[in-house]
Amino acid sequence: MGATDSASNTDSDTSGRPAPIALVTGASRGIGRAIAERLDAEGWQVVSTSRHPDAVDAPPPGQLWELDVSDPGSCARLAERFGPRLDAVVSNAGISALSAAEDTDPAVVAALFATNVIGPMELMRLLLPRLRAAGGRVVTVGSLIADYPVPLQSLYAATKAALRAYTQALREELRGQGVWVTHLEPGDLATEIAPISGTPSEPYRAAHTSVTAAREREMASAAGPGHVAAAVARVLRAHRPPAVVAVGGAAPVLRQIRRLLPDSLAGRLTARRYGL
Ligand SMILES: NC(=O)c1ccc[n+]([C@@H]2O[C@H](COP(=O)([O-])OP(=O)(O)OC[C@H]3O[C@@H](n4cnc5c(N)ncnc54)[C@H](OP(=O)(O)O)[C@@H]3O)[C@@H](O)[C@H]2O)c1
Repeated sequence: MGATDSASNTDSDTSGRPAPIALVTGASRGIGRAIAERLDAEGWQVVSTSRHPDAVDAPPPGQLWELDVSDPGSCARLAERFGPRLDAVVSNAGISALSAAEDTDPAVVAALFATNVIGPMELMRLLLPRLRAAGGRVVTVGSLIADYPVPLQSLYAATKAALRAYTQALREELRGQGVWVTHLEPGDLATEIAPISGTPSEPYRAAHTSVTAAREREMASAAGPGHVAAAVARVLRAHRPPAVVAVGGAAPVLRQIRRLLPDSLAGRLTARRYGL
């Protein structure tokens, strides 16, 4: 299916029912792309997004529309392309950073929050009437880092913690309206995600080297995003989707362990894990 100007529930499956429409943000590669492929295979009419759809060599299945989620005008233009009903939104687009809070340029902090928090909230505000009309489902893609804040990823962790708090409160705001909201917390997954990183200042040089090395080791042994995509597909099909789902590697176990550990012990274990 090529890109068109709008998406509405007019395509139908073999039973004649209209195919449900799912929007997956940030689906030109990585986790979003895997989700788009999985939903397409399960019969959804998928609208994926990229900031530069014309530059995506091998587009994901379905339609690929332009979205810079950090730009409110771009969010509004995307929302206007949908008809009155939208069955699912997977808010996946995101960026990360690897630098000490003290070293991070305010423009990078602004970009992190605009892309990972403020933009997804604005897009949701615009799309909620369509989701309500369809009794739709929402998945926001956070990160296990919200449970395990990691040194030199403090700002990224802050955005994902904010997104989780927003999602959990939104779920309750929508109670009784037929729209179900789920927060997904993936652990490390092998994708091309490239954290924004600068030259560390003197107090953080050794930490930057050891955290970068630990992260590269973790990414080298991480699984691909296939089972995350399967988890999203299950959530979107569920009659009563769960509030939070941890997926990927040891994420489900680590999330439970973190709940039981005293903060001081969790901090020491994190420092050891990152060679600090
Ligand atoms: N990989 C991991 O280990 C991991 C773990 C936990 C959570 N996550 C989260 O999972 C999500 C996807 O990560 P990934 O690993 O798949 O990253 P990725 O491979 O870098 O893909 C990121 C996607 O987001 C899009 N994107 C980036 N900035 C955007 C913007 N301003 N507006 C709209 N789209 C934008 C990119 O599309 P274009 O460049 O084409 O615009 C791309 O499709 C992120 O929210 C990330 O924080 C990842």
